[in-house]
Amino acid sequence: MPLPKAELHLHIEGTLEPELAFALAARNGVTLPYADADALRRAYLFEDLQSFLDLYYGLMAVLRTEDDFAALAEAYLERAAGQGVRHAEIFFDPQAHTARGVAIGTVVEGLSRALDHAEERHGVSTRLIMCFLRDEPAESAMATLEAAKPYLHRITAVGLDSAEAGHPPSKFREVYEAAAALGLRKVAHAGEEGPPAYIREALDLLGVERVDHGLRCMEDAELVERLVRERIPLTLCPLSNVRLRAVDTLEDHPLARMMDAGLLCTVNSDDPAYFGGYVGDTFHAVHEALALDDERLRELARNSFEASFLDDDEERRARLIAEVEAYEFEKPE
Ligand code: ADE
Ligand code: ZN
Repeated sequence: MPLPKAELHLHIEGTLEPELAFALAARNGVTLPYADADALRRAYLFEDLQSFLDLYYGLMAVLRTEDDFAALAEAYLERAAGQGVRHAEIFFDPQAHTARGVAIGTVVEGLSRALDHAEERHGVSTRLIMCFLRDEPAESAMATLEAAKPYLHRITAVGLDSAEAGHPPSKFREVYEAAAALGLRKVAHAGEEGPPAYIREALDLLGVERVDHGLRCMEDAELVERLVRERIPLTLCPLSNVRLRAVDTLEDHPLARMMDAGLLCTVNSDDPAYFGGYVGDTFHAVHEALALDDERLRELARNSFEASFLDDDEERRARLIAEVEAYEFEKPE
């Protein structure tokens, strides 16, 4: 049995496996510029965040109907459950779909069809986090928030993703204020490729409760001190950082140093179909590459539930943390 864990940094569009992409393309009459799923997978050699995003947004052309979004989420939930995920807070990018003529309702209703029975079918509780594309104008984010109003009962929080450099959190201050006024919680990607100053802005100007990635805080000792003091969770994605060249190799990843510094770290998969593993695979990889022992893995799992938006179900949070505490790691032969 795998270690129970929550996944807090997962783009549902990033779970689109090549085989599903080709199946959806056939069903929707979309032609993909790759011969087959293997050829597509061979194209997954990225230089940086932007080179990944170009391919990623292009492949979303296959997602058109509620059925497509339901199939995407169902496939993720099944795989995640198999790797010990018991709670998932799932990002989606409405603007990447509305720009192609797919209504936000199609996206939210389709995803919800899978999410609504995830606990009963897979033992995974879920929340949805609606992300704004930071390389689009703030007005577009505001219009997206407006369009999401009929679906707010299904959405827990807002987030900020896409190309970070040159798009500081300050650009979205008013949008985040409006989201908070609607009762939404707040997270944002910051410090993945962007500087530590973007992490500060996310905290001070947007009022985020968690920082997605936050990797580059390590360049700013005062910021680290603050993140520790305020117990701001970071949703780290080590395999993503390697594939998008934020770090050279997994062995160079600062995760262990970040935990040593007292940061509230969680480990997540980001876009698992593209970066070589789901969250259980990621735990396994950091265990091997960074020599994190069983107690460190237990700490990461405990952190994932503590940092989650399970505030409306403290009983479930407590039960899941108790499962983490009682978990018996397999003894090596
Ligand atoms: N959208 C999907 N994955 C992302 C990442 N790693 N950073 C920013 N935006 C993203
Ligand atoms: Zn991300």
